[in-house]
Amino acid sequence: MSPGENLDPIPDCFILQPPVFHPVIPYVTTIFGGLHAGKMVMLQGVVPLRAHRFQVDFQCGCSLHPQPDIAIHFNPRFHTTKPHVICNTLHSGRWQREARWPGVALQRGASFLILFLFGNEEVKPFLLQSPRLVPCSRALPQGLWPGQVIIVRGLVLQEPKEFTLSLRDEATRTPVMLRASFTDRTLAWVSPWGFKKLISAPFLFYPQRFFEVLLLCQEGGLKLALNGQPLGSTNLDQQTLERLREVRISGSIQLYCVHY
Ligand code: GAL
Repeated sequence: MSPGENLDPIPDCFILQPPVFHPVIPYVTTIFGGLHAGKMVMLQGVVPLRAHRFQVDFQCGCSLHPQPDIAIHFNPRFHTTKPHVICNTLHSGRWQREARWPGVALQRGASFLILFLFGNEEVKPFLLQSPRLVPCSRALPQGLWPGQVIIVRGLVLQEPKEFTLSLRDEATRTPVMLRASFTDRTLAWVSPWGFKKLISAPFLFYPQRFFEVLLLCQEGGLKLALNGQPLGSTNLDQQTLERLREVRISGSIQLYCVHY
């Protein structure tokens, strides 16, 4: 092996960190590869009955002194009459302007599942509800029009075979299907005649990991993003898009959200 030769063809950003169960709080860990766009961090827990607040800090290092900068401080507070979440950034020891989210669905005594999805310049936290069983379908009463978005969030099961997202029309034809195959680790658009158009991108579906698929309808087709990262588009004429009536999800996943 010559110096500098790359042992691992998978870039750092695709390193999967093993889950940590029942960590002692406060818990600090390193995020391998940093918080690049597309990274997801999932947090599962229970808010104690007498909790005042808790916080999740995505920070730049873990020294105690000096205090590291905190890129994202996510801080649910329960001690007021109106529980809320505060988000902020700590820069050179100073808190910046707070963002306050009222009406937080987190509750004292209740369990929660929070998914943080990092984008290029923002982070989106989602509070996940109990998963739905698949196959699952959702009506698209008006078809799809430019600007409309379908979002699917799910957790891949332990020994997955495949995951499919099909768009069906009135005649239950499927003009387009997105299929992730775990046997050959490919993601592809599949046409009604079974023609497969492979999507050339690293395969980002992993057992027991979350994913977010976003389909954006635009003039002449659908744009795809996986975990917030754009993965090109597929061509479909507007008539076909308007005639779509159902989005159907099936395969080896637990479904947490189908948003249309
Ligand atoms: C402060 C609090 C900090 C942090 C900050 C966020 O009042 O002491 O722990 O939550 O607000 O803006």
